[in-house]
Amino acid sequence: MRNIAVIGAGQMGTGIAQTVAQNGMTVMLSDVDLARAEAGKANVEKALVKLVGRGKIEADAAEAVLAKITPVADYSPMAEADLIIEAATEKEEIKNTIFDAAGKVLAADAIMASNTSSIPITRMANHSPDPQRFIGLHFFNPVPVMGLIEVIPGLATAKNTTDRVTEFARGLGKEVVLSQDEPGFVVNRILLPMINEAIFVLGQSTAGIEDIDKGCRLGLNHPMGPLQLADFVGLDTCLDIIMVLYKTTRDAKYRPAPLLVKYVEAGWLGRKTGRGFYDYSGEAPVPTR
Ligand code: 3HC
Repeated sequence: MRNIAVIGAGQMGTGIAQTVAQNGMTVMLSDVDLARAEAGKANVEKALVKLVGRGKIEADAAEAVLAKITPVADYSPMAEADLIIEAATEKEEIKNTIFDAAGKVLAADAIMASNTSSIPITRMANHSPDPQRFIGLHFFNPVPVMGLIEVIPGLATAKNTTDRVTEFARGLGKEVVLSQDEPGFVVNRILLPMINEAIFVLGQSTAGIEDIDKGCRLGLNHPMGPLQLADFVGLDTCLDIIMVLYKTTRDAKYRPAPLLVKYVEAGWLGRKTGRGFYDYSGEAPVPTR
């Protein structure tokens, strides 16, 4: 695959675009309008400037990576794409609207993939022009750094589609885990109950934010504690994922922690809004409780 399209220029979409471009492929990047797609490219530029500053990449190589990313105003240029990756908000209606619209330009042998964190692939495949060429391709944040991609074929996905996206994922220098199309797939099925439980622990005042995170960092050797990770993923996304687990399994063990719901209602969505369990307005994050 040489020509990739990414729909959604947020945290995940820009990380995917950067990674794809760093591995020599061209990327079309879109969002609800051209300005947002351009802002997404500007965020990739910021990340590359940091890497240049740290001596991880040469300035001209960074420029070459950036030149491979083209913000686009609508889906029509994606008729040229070998693979269209949807990386929009974790809301099924939004994703389905994208599949309906982008599906109209999908080339005859191209693949459409969703970076959904948890929504069933088999169900969303009905909104693509050909469910045999529809698949889940789940990246982890920050995409350029994390070494894993989950590949999730739906019921109708052709083996050839799974093989082609697996080869694409490995071409990005990532390891692949193949998951059946079950709620939360493999990693989020395990991660989200942990994050949710950490929020219950906080809500019950068993320990404060810093101690919960310190406990998991030092006691489990996790690079960041579950509350800091929740802020990093986005508390709205965490709630969306746990709700998919809860609604699709109808298992009470996935009920969202009331404090998570409250934070999302307050608009405290984590690092992206400047406040979640930590306040990000200063140099270093400060716990808010
Ligand atoms: N492009 C390329 N490289 C980058 C980069 C970027 N945009 N941003 C950072 N890096 C590199 C840095 O250069 C650095 O490289 P080095 O180790 O060779 O020096 C390395 O990444 C680490 O960066 P930093 O030194 O800035 O930061 P930390 O050492 O504090 O590590 C972290 C940051 C990698 C995010 C680490 O804290 C971590 O692993 N946290 C856990 C992340 C995690 O669990 N992610 C999964 C979330 S779940 C998910 O995404 C699924 C979704 O569906 C919810």
